[in-house]
Amino acid sequence: MKSTLLIASLAFATMQILHPTIAEARPPEHTFAIGTNDFLLDGQRFEIRCGEIHAARVPREYWRHRLQMAKAMGLNTVCAYLFWNQIEPREGKFDWSGQADVAEFCRIAQEEKLWVILRPGSYSCAEWEMGGLPWWLLKYDDIKLRTRDPRFLDPAKKYLKEVGRVLGPMQITHGGPILMVQVENEYGFLGKDVNYMGELRQALVDAGFNVPLFECNPPYNLKNGFRPDLFPVVNFGADPAGGFRALRGVLPQGPLMCGEFYPGWFDTWGSPHHTGNTPRYLGDLEYMLKHDESFSIYMVHGGTTFGLWSGADRPFKPDTSSYDYDAPISEAGWTTEKFFQTRQLFAQYLLPGETIPEPPARNPVISISPVELTESAPVFANLGKAVASKTPLNMEKYDQDHGCILYRTAVPAGDAGTLDLGPVHDFGFVFLDGKQLGIADRRTSSFKIKVPARSQSATLDVLVEAMGRVNFGEEVHDRKGIHGPVKLDGTELRDWKVFSLPLDKKMLGHLHFKKAPTTGPAFWRGTIKIDQVGDTFLDLRSWGKGVVWVNGHCLGRYWDIGPTQTAYVPGPWLKKGKNEIVILDLLGPEKPVVAGLAQPILNELHPEKDFARSHRPAVTLTLENAKPVLTASFAPGSALQEVHLDAPAKGRYFCIESLNAHDGKPYAAIGELDVLDQSGKPISHDGWSVAYVDSEEREKEDGTAENAIDGQTANYWHTQWGSAQPNHPHRFVIDFGKSQTVSGFRYVPRQGTGDVGGRIKDYRIYVGDNLVQR
Ligand code: GLA
Repeated sequence: MKSTLLIASLAFATMQILHPTIAEARPPEHTFAIGTNDFLLDGQRFEIRCGEIHAARVPREYWRHRLQMAKAMGLNTVCAYLFWNQIEPREGKFDWSGQADVAEFCRIAQEEKLWVILRPGSYSCAEWEMGGLPWWLLKYDDIKLRTRDPRFLDPAKKYLKEVGRVLGPMQITHGGPILMVQVENEYGFLGKDVNYMGELRQALVDAGFNVPLFECNPPYNLKNGFRPDLFPVVNFGADPAGGFRALRGVLPQGPLMCGEFYPGWFDTWGSPHHTGNTPRYLGDLEYMLKHDESFSIYMVHGGTTFGLWSGADRPFKPDTSSYDYDAPISEAGWTTEKFFQTRQLFAQYLLPGETIPEPPARNPVISISPVELTESAPVFANLGKAVASKTPLNMEKYDQDHGCILYRTAVPAGDAGTLDLGPVHDFGFVFLDGKQLGIADRRTSSFKIKVPARSQSATLDVLVEAMGRVNFGEEVHDRKGIHGPVKLDGTELRDWKVFSLPLDKKMLGHLHFKKAPTTGPAFWRGTIKIDQVGDTFLDLRSWGKGVVWVNGHCLGRYWDIGPTQTAYVPGPWLKKGKNEIVILDLLGPEKPVVAGLAQPILNELHPEKDFARSHRPAVTLTLENAKPVLTASFAPGSALQEVHLDAPAKGRYFCIESLNAHDGKPYAAIGELDVLDQSGKPISHDGWSVAYVDSEEREKEDGTAENAIDGQTANYWHTQWGSAQPNHPHRFVIDFGKSQTVSGFRYVPRQGTGDVGGRIKDYRIYVGDNLVQR
């Protein structure tokens, strides 16, 4: 009897994972409303103390543990994005199983006495591949994502209808934990089309959502696309007073909520690991608690962006797979000092009857001694079927979603020359008769490769690795692969064979491994034997660049330049005895060895290992003969400032030169720069790069120049202040990639309250084609 019951419950649990049950709508036990001054739960004043956790970024087996951690920190609500592209990986194919079973996540949250705020999108951002939008939309050459383009809006509505079918019953109005639902995400950054927001709002209503619907934006974009029938919340990382003042600009009355309050920040490959300013974080939290303002900590627990789901910041700064975010609950679900400081603070502001439980025990952690991976499967020996293609097309055109793609053609005999690949998203490993010639690199828009003389026809291979699609701004139209004709000394190369390498389960299952080391792009395989299961951190420091799998679970990407040097391995994905490790290395390992560490390595940069020797081609600044198109001063403070030139100026480069700063110190910093075209509209950052910057702090903090053109105002470019303090004038030069007509620009100073360094006072602007010499 006992065994049949066990089998029955196991069968039911498996069924749950494979075919998640749709919740039954139940009579409501509670009510939630947005009152004149407060949120009202069962008619009583309710302060939302919320934290963001993404079910997709936490091993399903640990959802309850993390939700218990959130409760034990003193939260009463969790906020969760949905990712459309994870739920509808192929058009019309919805899959709510496994890590996408958000209904189960909500059920557990309710069992753990947590309310839920749902953020279904259709666009989510979140450093997630394409901001959550599905790749297959990019099959349309000229689709306009996040607009009323019917090729976007129709599938978006279908998706939201499906969300209603599955999660509608989880609303508080049906006995579930969901209090509020967000429409889109920070749309004010991109557009002002209130009808677009209206369409999505109506789609959610039609899908059965009858709880309050809201929208979020940073302080200076709240008015864009604002609709009175969408409750506004404001996102900020500092200065709550300033943020809520701006919110009162669109919400004269009603409860104030910060939709995203940042305790840390996300990491991108090649830049220092981000850690938050904890005293300020605690101070701002206390300010909001004292003023009865609600908030959601983004992220309270970041977790890991498993698989190939990590996105990229614009113009192209690929995100790490670790999404630790320096959050109060660490990537592996551990308490941190910040966790206990926040818990202590919340304990002083509990509502009547509220208590805070003890945190659950930490899950077991193991170390694993170094193991050599002794089998390999070279990429070029595991290509699968080719598709003939007159000229190379984007990956999406070959109906491929993620991974790598190989473009092969013949190059006739001839003199040495230059191959121009045109824009490659994202890295093109170029081989001639199997010998590597170079790597095309989207980070620096370096798409030209030298080709040696050939006495006879040779095989040219361009192995393109697609990292995450950009998750922010116009740049989400991020088609992968080779963009357009490939030319050798100006002559187009045609008649290609194209091999898709989607790095999915099916492809991994067809690899032919041999017991031999190899060189060049290859998969490696080995076995680790363990006698006790537990969480561990795979040490990948002797590997180059690629993707790693354990027992078929894709842990994510790795790259020896850092800052992340380990991959989180959840205990439930390991088993006693033999465990299979597979690693794709596009560069080739120093030693094909892995180990399991008891601690993550999240902050170890190795710029010396970067195949782009410096992450910016060497150029010389040539301002001497240039005439500034504007000499002016910025106002003090953190507000966005829009500046118009006396007359439009034309050129490929835009240079801002700081002459001094408002605080009189030698530093310059910029939160965000947008440049306006002839009609005053922001120019897309696609193809942009930082051509030159005289100084940037990359030791003591991430003051990388690209932070000023990535769309995020919570990070910033800052000149050196650690091991050196070079003085003004400081120069920052943007390369548009092509000539542009500039009528003005928008400058967002470094954000923050009080004494914020680097805010530029007097400055000059230059626009032209010869501001730098390559
Ligand atoms: C924005 C987005 C979030 C996330 C954060 C940065 O505000 O709304 O999805 O991208 O920035 O982590």
